[in-house]
Amino acid sequence: MGRLQDKVTVVTGAGSGIGRGIAHKCAAEGAVVIVTDIDESAAAAVVDEIGGGASAYRVDVTDRATVDAMVADVMAEHGRIDVLVNNAGWDVGMPFVDTEPDFWDRVIAINYVGTLNTCHAILPIMAAQNSGSIVNLASDAGRVGSSGEAVYAGAKAGIIGFSKTIAREHARHRITVNVVCPGPTDTALFASMGGDNPRLREGLTKAIPFRRLGTAQDVANAVAFFASDEASFITGQTLSVSGGLTMV
Ligand SMILES: NC(=O)c1ccc[n+]([C@@H]2O[C@H](COP(=O)([O-])OP(=O)(O)OC[C@H]3O[C@@H](n4cnc5c(N)ncnc54)[C@H](O)[C@@H]3O)[C@@H](O)[C@H]2O)c1
Repeated sequence: MGRLQDKVTVVTGAGSGIGRGIAHKCAAEGAVVIVTDIDESAAAAVVDEIGGGASAYRVDVTDRATVDAMVADVMAEHGRIDVLVNNAGWDVGMPFVDTEPDFWDRVIAINYVGTLNTCHAILPIMAAQNSGSIVNLASDAGRVGSSGEAVYAGAKAGIIGFSKTIAREHARHRITVNVVCPGPTDTALFASMGGDNPRLREGLTKAIPFRRLGTAQDVANAVAFFASDEASFITGQTLSVSGGLTMV
């Protein structure tokens, strides 16, 4: 028996990177994984890799209608949602003064409002069940700041405050809400933010006490713990998975 045996587990942005790692880890722990992504073929490819009871949905977290359609379908098929992992995220690195309001809107929509959309749709279901776990992906950028990521860092800091508040509001329904903050993690997003530059990679690697970048698996392990019943008395917490890069 896995730690997430038969738990119906919705993961956003699960078509690649950390979300794909989370989908794999949750499936290995016995979960019925609902693999959602704005890129439908990427989600379908992950379901093919996982096999079993997993299913793929095209969900744009910024578009509430696509969230609601997925939730309705999952409820019709499974009758419950046990775990929600808000992983979808996006950014382009640049100094704040070079950014424009259209870019702010997009960063805030994907990294902040997307999580509001899924939580708003799924919290009432978990409350009616009197059980559920929500794990929100923020970033160390949201805890300690990160040059070139001002608006993203603000949105991710928002995720932390939001998560603590819904954790308080829903403890009486035995719903846990926790936040995982990856440090530099080797994914397409990291590469697009400068991680494909060997000098930056090397500099970051040297700065990390464990002397390596994070992997999707490292982050997925922490997510699976928070999603499991082993964490049923842990809520409103924020955990960095960064090889010790940040310790405050
Ligand atoms: N990689 C890092 O170094 C790092 C560090 C800190 C935090 N994070 C966070 O971890 C999470 C995953 O990041 P990643 O590195 O795996 O990124 P990634 O770009 O490799 O994967 C993100 C996935 O989200 C999907 N996506 C993008 N916009 C979406 C939308 N509107 N609706 C639904 N899906 C959407 C993409 O299609 C992609 O499959 C993000 O929340 C990110 O902010 C990553």
